[in-house]
Amino acid sequence: MDVLVTGGTGRLGQRLTEPLRAAGHSVRQMSRRGTGPGGVRGDLATGRDLAAAVGGAELIVHAATDPRGDPWQVDVAGTRRLVEAVDRSRLQHLVYVSIVGVDRIPYGYYRAKFAAEQVLLGSGLPVTLLRATQFHDFVDFLLDTAQRGPVLPVPMGWRVQPVDVGDVAAHIADVVSGPPAGGVIEYGGPEELSAAELARAWAAARAPGTYVVATPLPGKLSAALRDGAAVPTGGERGRRTYAEHLRG
Ligand SMILES: NC(=O)c1ccc[n+]([C@@H]2O[C@H](COP(=O)([O-])OP(=O)(O)OC[C@H]3O[C@@H](n4cnc5c(N)ncnc54)[C@H](OP(=O)(O)O)[C@@H]3O)[C@@H](O)[C@H]2O)c1
Repeated sequence: MDVLVTGGTGRLGQRLTEPLRAAGHSVRQMSRRGTGPGGVRGDLATGRDLAAAVGGAELIVHAATDPRGDPWQVDVAGTRRLVEAVDRSRLQHLVYVSIVGVDRIPYGYYRAKFAAEQVLLGSGLPVTLLRATQFHDFVDFLLDTAQRGPVLPVPMGWRVQPVDVGDVAAHIADVVSGPPAGGVIEYGGPEELSAAELARAWAAARAPGTYVVATPLPGKLSAALRDGAAVPTGGERGRRTYAEHLRG
């Protein structure tokens, strides 16, 4: 089938081509610049080149996002533009990549992701909303940026269950080839860990000598993460642990 991946140049998008091709699909990867293998141009924020990119797709993996820019423009309005550009007579399944806890964690970007989910649920399209947990590489990035000299401060008691992006990509290739769920499914890593446990493992592998300090963080967002709102309650699990990712 003809598969369009939005966010094709992203952390996840780049990993999707291989398992989708292995499943027998032809893959086009959309981004604003249209770079990379099978790259096509399409801008969700302006609608530019979108109709041409989306038109013939039989399967869509919607993984484009703009967390650091304007997620309401790209993730929410952009998802509306995507829905309008789809050829309904051809599309068999659209998988939207969302995040575990977008309905429970009070955080602006998550609110936008939840709103994008509602756009898709109301679209009448054959959709699956796949909520994944944090990718291992993203955890690395967060810990790297949180480090202050020899000290790595982390929020006390936050519970997470990060997942390997390669496992997520393989799972999405399975899911998009199957029937639409018509709602939410979850996908997480093999083990639940505290932020401090992750930080200690990261520091031992990547920044030896770093002292991890777990600090209580007030507020509703922190309370939700302590309560396990970012931990999946159902769905399948990836196999690769964070420790294996660090060793790799
Ligand atoms: N990272 C995580 O830990 C994590 C965890 C769970 C779920 N997710 C979800 O998984 C999906 C992929 O995340 P990621 O970390 O791979 O994202 P990413 O690395 O930030 O990549 C974002 C992608 O979106 C594209 N994009 C941004 N603005 C665009 C626009 N206006 N029009 C078209 N494309 C645009 C970017 O392409 P160009 O900049 O080249 O145009 C890039 O390919 C997202 O929906 C995210 O919410 C991520």
